[in-house]
Formats: sequence, structure tokens, C-alpha cells
Amino acid sequence: MENQKHLFSLDEGVHYLNNAYKAPLLKSCEEAALKAIAGDRTPIHLTPDSYFDTSERIRNEFSELVNCTPSQVALIPSSSYGLSSAMNNVPCGEGQYALTIENEFPSDYFALSRWAKKHDSTIKTIRPDATSAHQAKDWNERIMAAITSETAVLLMSSVHWMNGTVFDLEKIGAKCAETGTYFIVDGTQSVGARFMDVQQYQIDALICAAYKWLLGPYSTGLAYFSSKFNDGIPIEESWMNRTNAKEFSNLTTYDGQYTADAGRYNVGQTSNFILAPILLKALEQLNTWGIHAIEAYAKELVEPLRNFLLSKGITLEEEDFFSAHLFGIKLPATVSVETIKTKLAEERIFVSVRGSFIRVSVNMFNTSEDISKLIQALDKVL
Ligand SMILES: Cc1ncc(COP(=O)(O)O)c(C=O)c1O
Repeated sequence: MENQKHLFSLDEGVHYLNNAYKAPLLKSCEEAALKAIAGDRTPIHLTPDSYFDTSERIRNEFSELVNCTPSQVALIPSSSYGLSSAMNNVPCGEGQYALTIENEFPSDYFALSRWAKKHDSTIKTIRPDATSAHQAKDWNERIMAAITSETAVLLMSSVHWMNGTVFDLEKIGAKCAETGTYFIVDGTQSVGARFMDVQQYQIDALICAAYKWLLGPYSTGLAYFSSKFNDGIPIEESWMNRTNAKEFSNLTTYDGQYTADAGRYNVGQTSNFILAPILLKALEQLNTWGIHAIEAYAKELVEPLRNFLLSKGITLEEEDFFSAHLFGIKLPATVSVETIKTKLAEERIFVSVRGSFIRVSVNMFNTSEDISKLIQALDKVL
């Protein structure tokens, strides 16, 4: 596929290699936003169905992206919200503990930490071996070895948010299924950019903020909950998640029944008349491109950069653990990453610094010119 820059409105001359920080808005999303705002001027067209239709379409689109039924999808306002919904419903048996990986994102870590306090349990953190020549491979093996029947829950990101290290979700999910461990995945940094299949990976809950790879607006997100959560307790008791919610004249016949499957985990005011139409447009675009085309585009795009870095002696993750959409460049200790970030910004090249890595992330709006500009700029400092 050709680059899709024409579908975005990025400023001229900007080389935005920072989708992992925040996605730029699609033109179609901007149009949907303006239409939604205009629709709010005089809300005479709102029917009871309008409160539910867009959310249902969003659930459909996301279910296609992650391979589940739409009823297993919940609309959430943030990862932290979805993670709490999940962790509130993870049991802890006698002597069991939680597992996570080193430098996990704070929203994940704190959800886990609250769970551990509540159950008087502990968190074990699996760290990579910094001296290993095959760090990512070893790290995956260490994670696998750490999952036992004493592991109540494993909560981790689908790829590491700092440098994109790929985790073998299929193998990890299979081990969790074997040991009866809840497998909760934060998909914020890969869903929409990399293949995801909650069934194939035997994921119990998948939580994603939407403002990165789902190309949605801030304050929106999506979650998948497996049937293990069907009888769980949601964070709040929204009237919208009841089976009689569409009967506006009958809402005070208080309905104790939640809507099916993950319906109970939908955030209150799911209709979100301004943000929901934007999110819907973004998901439609992702499904129109198709995840395999998105992956293939990123791979081809960054190949010259990968080759350049390797030729300069920069260590990158090995092929099986490298994801082209998001990766970390570890520069020699003599070079200050912050100084480089500032130098790049002077040339209108935008990346992030995470820990000791320069984090580069690309999406369909990036062009080979963005990549050559970064190569030229790095060539000067390396
Ligand atoms: C892995 C990961 N999860 C979640 C988030 C966002 O968290 P929240 O939606 O709680 O603000 C980020 C943001 O950088 C992230 O990288």
C-alpha cells in the first residue's frame, strides 16, 4: 500500500515519528467531530436509539480487529479504567501472587498494586537479563518459566511501551491457560498496528487506550472481556448498561439485569456524542486498510532505518522480537538522548525519549522522506 498521508492533516515539513505518543487526527475524524458538534447545537434529532447506535458500531469494528464477538467489547475512557474493571474481578487463591514485567506502564502497575494490597498478596516482576546477547528471547523465556499455578494473574503490555520489545503472546497465553492464570493484556501500544487475536492468544482481558494506534481521540478506549468476567462487578452502575435501557419511558422499573457479556463494563454515558463518532471513523479506517497491510507498510518503511542503525553498530531487537511500528534506539553511552531529541526537533523530526532509548514509532501517514530525514540527522550525531 502507498503511504496514506493524504488522509491526515499533518503540518507541512513535520516528520512525526511519534504515533506511540499520540496519533494525529484523520481528516475523516475531524469531519465527524465537526458534524457531531454541529449536531449538538439543537439536539432535536436525538432518539433513544441515538444513545446506543454509535457505541454498537464501535463495538462491532473493534471486535473485528481483535477477533471476538461485539458483546464482549466495552467502551472505556482510559486504560486505567479498563484495567481496574478487570483487576477488580480477578480472584486470588491462598498463596497466589501477581506477575508483571519490568518497567510496565504506571496505569498497569498501579492497578496490579491495588489488587495485591486488597488480597494481601505480592507482585513478582520479571526482568530481562541485561548481559544476555539475546535479551528479548531470554526475557520471553523467563516470563514463561515464571507462570505457575501460584500465579493468579499476569498483567503485561502486548509489546513493551518503552522500546517495542515483542512478547510471544500466543505462547504466554497458552501457559496461562494451562496454569489457570488470568492473562490481562494492555494492548494500547500495539492493537491497531499489529495483529491481535484474543482467542488465538487466550487473553482474558485486553485493555486499550484509543488515542495511539486506534487513531481515536483522547479519553476513549476499548476493552475485550472474556466470559470469565461475565458475572463480574463493574466500577459503576450506569443505567445505560441495563437490558431495559432503551425504554426511556420505563427506566424506573429498575432493571437488575446488565446487558450481555461485557456490557456491564461500558463506561457511563457511552454515547459520548462528540468523541464516539470520531472513534468510530478511526476504527472504520483501520479495518478498511486491514491489519496485515498496516503491518506490512511499517515493515517496509523502516527497513532502511533498521539497516542503517545496524550498520552503525546500534543494537536493535532481533527480528522475531522487533516490531517496525515502535522500536527503541539505544545510542552509545557517550551520546545524550535528550540532546539528540532536541536536535531532531530543530529539524522538525519528532520522536520520544523513554528511559535510555529514542523511541521511534511509525504509522500509515509516515513517508520514506520521514525515514531518510531521520537517517540523515542520526548520521550527523553517530
Ligand atoms: C502501555 C500503555 N498503556 C496505557 C497508556 C495510557 O494509559 P491511560 O489510558 O491510563 O492514560 C499508555 C500511554 O502511554 C501506554 O503506553
